[in-house]
Amino acid sequence: MKNYLRQVNRRNTNCYKWDSVENNKDLIPLWVADMEFQAPKEIVDTVVRRAKHPAYGYVRVPDEYYFAVCNWFNEIHNWRFLKTDVLYTTGVIPALSAVIKAVTKPNDNVLIFTPVYNHFYSSIKNNDCNIISCPLKRDENLVYHIDFDDFKAKIKNAAVVLLCNPHNPVSRVFTEDELTEIAKICKENNTFVISDEIHCEIVMDGFKYTPFGIVADKFNLKYAVCSSPSKTFNMASLQIANIVCKDTEYRQKIDRAININECCDVNPFGIEALITGYTSEGCRYYIKTLCKVVYENFLSAKRLLEKELPKVKITPLEGTYLMWVDCSELNKKSKEIEDELLKFYNLWLSAGTLYGEEGEGFVRINLACPEEMLIKGINRFIAYYKEIESKK
Ligand SMILES: Cc1ncc(COP(=O)(O)O)c(C=O)c1O
Repeated sequence: MKNYLRQVNRRNTNCYKWDSVENNKDLIPLWVADMEFQAPKEIVDTVVRRAKHPAYGYVRVPDEYYFAVCNWFNEIHNWRFLKTDVLYTTGVIPALSAVIKAVTKPNDNVLIFTPVYNHFYSSIKNNDCNIISCPLKRDENLVYHIDFDDFKAKIKNAAVVLLCNPHNPVSRVFTEDELTEIAKICKENNTFVISDEIHCEIVMDGFKYTPFGIVADKFNLKYAVCSSPSKTFNMASLQIANIVCKDTEYRQKIDRAININECCDVNPFGIEALITGYTSEGCRYYIKTLCKVVYENFLSAKRLLEKELPKVKITPLEGTYLMWVDCSELNKKSKEIEDELLKFYNLWLSAGTLYGEEGEGFVRINLACPEEMLIKGINRFIAYYKEIESKK
C-alpha cells in the first residue's frame, strides 16, 4: 500500500520547504504544509501530457472542470451545488482575500477561531479589516472546541466569520452539530461566513468532514466555501482553487473582487490536474492511502514523544497532516524553539505563535513524509528538549 505513496527527493528543486536554507544537506523540514510524497501518478501523467503540447498561452476553463468539482463534492461529500455557484481562482489564499474584499468594507471586523492558519491574519489585514479572536478551548483530552459563549458575545461586532474546517493547526474536524451551532448563531446575527476547507480530504478514520455549505443551506445563510485539491494531491504550485457561493449578489461581488485582485487567470496544468484528481479512481485510492500513512505516522511520533518526553502534550489528530504539540513545560518561547532546532539540530518545525498568541509554547509538526524521516526529526526534537531540560 505504502508503495503507492512514493517519496520524492525535493532537495535542490527550488523547493520552498527544503531549499529555503543555505545548507540543507542534513535538514529535516517538518514545517510548511507541503508533502514529501509524489502527486498521484494519474495527475503526473496528466501534467506531463499537457506539458508535451508546446503552447502555454492563455486557456479557458471547460465545462468538464465544473462538472468535476460539482460531482466530487456531491458524490464524496454529499453536498450539492450548481456549476454557476463556482468561481475559480489561483489559490485558497487569493480566494479568501477576494471574498473578504467582496463582503466587507474597510474597518469591518472579521472573527476567527484562534490559533489559526497564519494567512488568515494577513488576508484580513490586507483588506483593511480588523481581527476579532475567539480562542478555542482545549478540553482534558487535549481536543479543541469553540467557546460558544465567547463566540456569541463577540459575533455582535463582527461582519464576517472566517472558519477553518478542518482546522489548521489544531487538527479539529468540526462535527455537523458544531457547524450547525455556528450557522445558527451567524444567522441570528446576519453574519457572512467564509469557510476554508482546503484540508477537507485529509480526515482520519472515525471522523467525518461536513461541508459548511450543507448546514448553512438549512439556515439560508450567506456564505462562501473555499477549497482546492492542492493539499490532498501535493499540487499547490499548480495554483488552482474554487469558491462556492450560492448567493448571486455576493457571488457577483466576489467575482468582481477576483478581477480587481487580478487573480482570475488560472493555468492549464491546474485545470487538468484538478479534473484528474476529482475524477480518477487512482486519486481516490491515493487519499485513502495518504490518510492511513499520516495516521500511522502520527501514532509512531506520539508513542515516541510520550515515552521520552512525558511532559509534552499531543492533541489528537482528527484531520490535516499537522500535529499540534504542547511543549510549554519547557518554558521557552515557541519562536526560540523553532530557531534553535533549526540552527543546532537541523530540524525545521513551525513555532506555534505563527498561528496566534495562543500558540505560545506549542510547535506544529508536518506528518506527511516517510515514517523514517519523521522519526529522525522527532528524535532530534527529543534530544533538543532533553538538552534544554538538563541545563535548567
Ligand atoms: C487552512 C489553509 N488555507 C490555505 C492554505 C494555502 O492555500 P493556497 O496555497 O491554495 O493559497 C493553507 C496552506 O497550508 C492552509 O493550511
